Amino acid sequence: MNILLTGGAGFIASHTCVELLEAGHQVVVVDNYVNSQPESLRRVEEITGCKIKSYEADVCDKDAMNRIFDENTFDAVIHFAGLKAVGESVSIPLRYYRNNLDSTLTLCEVMAEHGCKRLVFSSSATVYGEPEEVPLREDMFCKGCTNPYGWTKYMIEKILQDLVVADPEWSVVLLRYFNPIGAHESGRIGEDPSGIPNNLMPYITEVAVGKLDHLTVYGDDYDTHDGTGVRDYIHVVDLAKGHVAACNYAAKTTGCEIINLGTGTGYSVLDIVHAFVRVNHVNVPYVVGPRRPGDVDACFADPAKAQKLLGWRAEKTLEDMCRDSWRWQSSNPNGYEK
Ligand code: WQD
Repeated sequence: MNILLTGGAGFIASHTCVELLEAGHQVVVVDNYVNSQPESLRRVEEITGCKIKSYEADVCDKDAMNRIFDENTFDAVIHFAGLKAVGESVSIPLRYYRNNLDSTLTLCEVMAEHGCKRLVFSSSATVYGEPEEVPLREDMFCKGCTNPYGWTKYMIEKILQDLVVADPEWSVVLLRYFNPIGAHESGRIGEDPSGIPNNLMPYITEVAVGKLDHLTVYGDDYDTHDGTGVRDYIHVVDLAKGHVAACNYAAKTTGCEIINLGTGTGYSVLDIVHAFVRVNHVNVPYVVGPRRPGDVDACFADPAKAQKLLGWRAEKTLEDMCRDSWRWQSSNPNGYEK
């Protein structure tokens, strides 16, 4: 299949490019590089030996998107493009609603006008809000998000579900990611956050490589086995393979499915720190600080539906995630060198 990846130069998308190409698909990328580097695509070409057609454009720009769809025939689209920093979304909510919703509405209009009605959407476990029970299942009622970023994902899920009701020719898969970490085994592509990392693993790797002095563990009084927050960390390559499976599924069905992409196993902050130190023989000094507002005790997936519908499950271990994260960071101390 010929597949368009919006936000294709990003962390998860660049890994998905690799897996799609290695599965025999063709990919085209559109990205405005507001949160990514074109270098990541050059390295995907290096890893796969395949050329990638890419467009620098904003998905909100309907004229640009029409030109891209006029010049190419797509069998499916994976919509990664979007602003995704939870904390930032609280301080600039209008930018998040405008960007994430407009880009999706524009994309769907252009897709429909060009007869392309297969869409895989990058959603997030954040739509579950504060879980009342774990593991989280797709049919659980989402009682409300805890930040504007999460609400944009929730609203887009609703928009796409309504689209499918109105036009049953559409095939939509809403992928709810848990906590993606790790990097391609080559060490050539990986997570490259701008500024101080918000998320745990990139913060750990920057401490280990000496860019940051120490990690602050946000709270050790949660209702978990060691008091620190528990999450479902999933290797980004497993996540990427889940997208390949979702595209194959969308090609043979119509309708709308919500699917968790997680491992079903929760690890605490200290589990991650200790595993990272053990696997990589590095030092990660940390202090325990106050809880971060909005954090929950534990959040992890029931992965059964992905196995049943997509024939996909996560295979990489926590050791793989730690080893691959470190290989990327240690061989690219400044990421893609902005
Ligand atoms: C993980 C754990 C923190 C940093 C977020 C988004 C979610 C998704 C994934 C987009 C928590 C603790 C973290 C640090 C710490 N992104 N932590 N010190 O918050 O589970 O999920 O990223 O879809 O939408 O909400 O991930 O990596 O920020 O935190 O102790 O310096 O690590 O308290 O328990 P989170 P995270």
